[in-house]
Amino acid sequence: MPWRRTRVPYRILVSEVMLQQTGVDRVRDRYAAFLRAFPSFRALAHAGTGEVLAAWKGLGYNRRALALRECARIVSSRRNGRMPRTVDELVLLPGIGRATASAIMVYAFNLPRAFIETNIRRVYIHFFFPRGGGVSDARIMPLVERTMDTRNPREWFYALMDYGAMLAQTVPNPNLRSTRYRRQSAFAGSLRQLRGKVLQAMLDRRVASRGEISRAVGGPDGRLPEVLRQLVSEGFLRRDNGRYSFR
Ligand code: ADE
Repeated sequence: MPWRRTRVPYRILVSEVMLQQTGVDRVRDRYAAFLRAFPSFRALAHAGTGEVLAAWKGLGYNRRALALRECARIVSSRRNGRMPRTVDELVLLPGIGRATASAIMVYAFNLPRAFIETNIRRVYIHFFFPRGGGVSDARIMPLVERTMDTRNPREWFYALMDYGAMLAQTVPNPNLRSTRYRRQSAFAGSLRQLRGKVLQAMLDRRVASRGEISRAVGGPDGRLPEVLRQLVSEGFLRRDNGRYSFR
């Protein structure tokens, strides 16, 4: 995994945001190209919305891409390109929660900061809660704290994640016993899919009317006006005289 061969905070941040909601194989496919396009906070800070979304293609949940660019803008303009080095400062950046902030502290700086993500959760539930459901992260977190190798957190958390990924292949999913477990909702026909189609139509055209977008996404869809309103209010698109373009 290429993000395990770097210690550059920017590169670790990019990988952790990608890995929040996208699997390792897909991130591996996109990571190098994204970093080639935007090799630094400064480069990403100055990127246009269309360019960022083109590089984000295939990763899904595009709001993360805009949040990441906003992180880059904040770090370059207010911090002279130096990434915050505490969890409490990192969580002030858009799109960075405590788990992502802690993972960055561990992987970029080898500092012991406990966190839970899906593979780590699998390990602790498998080992400490072999039976019964309703296991909350609040019960897992103290165990992560107490078991952590504080001398070598980076290697410890790599190993935990790999162990969790292995468990996913070898035992019935322990995360079914987590209070956080949700069945993945269908992508086909979802609003998320329509948002993706609209953004792809915009990447192909750069400027388009609502009618053109409607045809590009496969014909009339009653949800299109709401999706366009969302994309405007979230900062993806602007609307001028009935024509949409990237903001
Ligand atoms: N391997 C799998 N997921 C990872 C993550 N979030 N950070 C580092 N390495 C990983």
